[in-house]
Amino acid sequence: MSVRRLHPVQPGSFAFNAENLAWAKAKIAQYPAGKEASAVIPLLWRAQEQNGNWVTKPAIEYVANMLGMAYIRVLEVATFYTMFQLQPVGKVAHIQVCGTTPCMLRGAEDLKKVCQHKIHREQHHVTEDGKFSWEEVECLGACVNAPMVQIFKDTYEDLTPASLEKLIDDLAAGRKVKVGPQTGRHMASPEGGPTSLTDPALYDGQRTFTRVEPPPPPPPPADETKK
Ligand code: FES
Repeated sequence: MSVRRLHPVQPGSFAFNAENLAWAKAKIAQYPAGKEASAVIPLLWRAQEQNGNWVTKPAIEYVANMLGMAYIRVLEVATFYTMFQLQPVGKVAHIQVCGTTPCMLRGAEDLKKVCQHKIHREQHHVTEDGKFSWEEVECLGACVNAPMVQIFKDTYEDLTPASLEKLIDDLAAGRKVKVGPQTGRHMASPEGGPTSLTDPALYDGQRTFTRVEPPPPPPPPADETKK
């Protein structure tokens, strides 16, 4: 993973538009008085979305002011989580390839090669048409569907080099793409379908269950009863 620093070229200012400002105020109001800082991640995410999917220094300062937080504390959050982009990214897709052990064992290196071939040899380079960029990140929490990538807020799982190439081509062409597993399995269920709790009667409300009480404990040994 690369060092996460603010981009050297920054805009002069940032402010939420009217819709996002109203949303942010409502979000902050969900937290008890004195705990407004808990809204830092949703506000940073909203700022990122408004700003073409990257977080600027003025946006970090703006969120800090809104929440009454020290600038450094919001900077810490923005630079810690790879969900926040610190430089301009592809407008159609910034592909975050998980490179942690389960994904690595299931072919993440080959997914990186696809990104290097189709987007740019190096991470964090936006294509000339401004559409795509990529980076390697740590575990994105979908290990059971490894290997996988995240694009903005969505994940694409059970990938192969061929299915990732197709995903990039479909996105470039503006075609609708399917989020989640790309093999047809339902979310994280076993490949080939469920293997347990398969009786339909479990779910039609007809089945009743009888509670089975555990047997009473054995009486204490005779010696102990005399003490
Ligand atoms: S290791 Fe890739 S999602 Fe966890």
